Amino acid sequence: MYVKKIKLKNFRNYTEREFEFSNGVNIFYGDNGQGKTNVLEALFLSSIGKSFRTNKDIEMIKDGCDSYEVTVFTDTEAENEIKITYNKNKKKTISISGIYLTKMGDLMGILPGVIFSPQNMSLLSQGPGERRKFMDMAISQLKPVYYFNLQQYNKIINQKNAFLKEINPKNADYTLLDIWNEQLSEYGAKIVEARKEYFEKLTPLVSDFHSYISGGKEKVKIKYISSCDSDKAAFYEKLEKEKTHEVERHMSLVGPQRDDIDVILEGTGDIKKYGSQGQQRTLIIAMKLSELTVLRDVTGKTPVLLLDDVLSELDDTRQKLLLGKITDSQVFITCTNPENIQNTSPAGEKSFFIKEENIVF
Ligand SMILES: Nc1ncnc2c1ncn2[C@@H]1O[C@H](COP(=O)(O)OP(=O)(O)OP(=O)(O)O)[C@@H](O)[C@H]1O
Ligand SMILES: [Mg+2]
Repeated sequence: MYVKKIKLKNFRNYTEREFEFSNGVNIFYGDNGQGKTNVLEALFLSSIGKSFRTNKDIEMIKDGCDSYEVTVFTDTEAENEIKITYNKNKKKTISISGIYLTKMGDLMGILPGVIFSPQNMSLLSQGPGERRKFMDMAISQLKPVYYFNLQQYNKIINQKNAFLKEINPKNADYTLLDIWNEQLSEYGAKIVEARKEYFEKLTPLVSDFHSYISGGKEKVKIKYISSCDSDKAAFYEKLEKEKTHEVERHMSLVGPQRDDIDVILEGTGDIKKYGSQGQQRTLIIAMKLSELTVLRDVTGKTPVLLLDDVLSELDDTRQKLLLGKITDSQVFITCTNPENIQNTSPAGEKSFFIKEENIVF
């Protein structure tokens, strides 16, 4: 599946704009702040219904306007038009070929996409939040029900956390906590199970890609770390065991909201702590390529790959390795200087010079 065309209306700095794409490599180039990443954001929005930059849809509405509209045209008959709109009254609509979706999860997997952004470059050096985001974006596209479970879980955990913050440990009412723990174990166990399943597929691929990129010199193993079990009863038991601690410390202490990924480099240890910048970069590329591979295998579609400003951060060898591994994907690249891109796509390329329309000097 590939994107033939995108139409943006009152989206970020675009009033009305259309781009027609190549099914190979598409390059957006131009100065900083002109709207290159904005196009990638709109493409990714059509993939998972959310931005990779913000949780607030309102930020994507063009300043001074009431709503945005993003329409993607694909080469398939059944799903040839994906349209997303959002207005200031917080109403979001998603339609596929004119049919409105009732659940956002139903968009997942229609246009599989993988984003590789400068934020990913700190996937290993930052706290676990970014790593959980990586898992969630990837798994949601594979399993729409995962996204639903995550939404439900987050709703309940937020209520529980707000309650724990205010609670008086000396005079605590445990009834509400028990109800929440019951619900949390229901959704939480499913989340942990899906993450476990995902890592069973991802882990060997990451080791292989990493070894390939490093020329067989290095061996890594990534591992999913969770404080909880994928069995509902065991999950609930753990929550019950931690209950008094949670009340004393005014916060929830266990659950998938505290999960993480461990990365062990043979001979060095935890790559997050001890890995060099180059080793970390190699591993991040390996993780992204593995994400794309799993997504392709499970959905049976070739995902689009969005590379936001990351190629300039990679040396020529790594660029070639990355692009050489994805020659069958449609790729969207942003950069300030297109001469630095080592294109290897047999499907051809198209370049777009991006300059903001309404710049006032
Ligand atoms: N809601 C909005 N309404 C109007 N303009 C916006 C909105 N959100 C962002 N912009 C504008 O979009 C531009 C930034 O776009 P974008 O992030 O795509 O730039 P870029 O070309 O990727 O730049 P860089 O090379 O620095 O990454 C800025 O000029 C910003 O003011
Ligand atoms: Mg940018």
